Amino acid sequence: MRLFLDTANIEHIRHGVELGVISGVTTNPSLVSKEGKVNYQELVKKICSIVPGPVSTEVLSQDASGMIAEAREIAKWADNIVVKIPASLEGVKATSVLAKENIKVNFTLCFSLNQALLGAAAGATFISPFVGRLDDIGEDGMKVVFDIAQFLCYYELPTQVIAASIRHPQHCFMAAKAGAHIATVPYKVLLQMIQHPLTDIGIKRFTDDWRKVMGEKRIIETPAKL
Ligand code: G3P
Repeated sequence: MRLFLDTANIEHIRHGVELGVISGVTTNPSLVSKEGKVNYQELVKKICSIVPGPVSTEVLSQDASGMIAEAREIAKWADNIVVKIPASLEGVKATSVLAKENIKVNFTLCFSLNQALLGAAAGATFISPFVGRLDDIGEDGMKVVFDIAQFLCYYELPTQVIAASIRHPQHCFMAAKAGAHIATVPYKVLLQMIQHPLTDIGIKRFTDDWRKVMGEKRIIETPAKL
């Protein structure tokens, strides 16, 4: 399972890419708004220049013709751009048109297998079930990820499932177990994923044991800069 960062924050994106584990980014109008009153196009272009893989950015129109017009414009911004289209009836229509023009679509705000069936049939490159928001209303978000992943695999469809609306580290490994191709994670969750108290205790114990016998002797005297 690949990892994308779910943010529009440049510093966080730079750090994720620097770690070598982030191969894409997803944004939405709420995430972009968190960055203040920015120039949308400039911000997205900057993100696209930092990230090695797909960068999803969302349309604002709600009717198919508006979505298509916005998506055609957004698609010109960078080679690695993916246009987020909501899983509405108008979104299905827009996705069908855009897919035929080879514009990559991330079929977003997906909450059911039926919505995913339509997104895949329309030719979406990615489908994004929102796990956390389903959990919020007492449904099982990860079950929807599992069902979509099974369906895409069974019919050998090229569409990939992005587990989105990830809220905590447990969602990450559950997404992998459910067969998601990708999980898009908030920066905070990315940092939480590596945390384990036994790792910290282990590092300290190894260092203390070494020091007791070897003192400050190191393998190389001046560690090289990365
Ligand atoms: O990837 C979708 C995500 O941005 C939505 O997350 O936490 O607002 O449900 P959330």
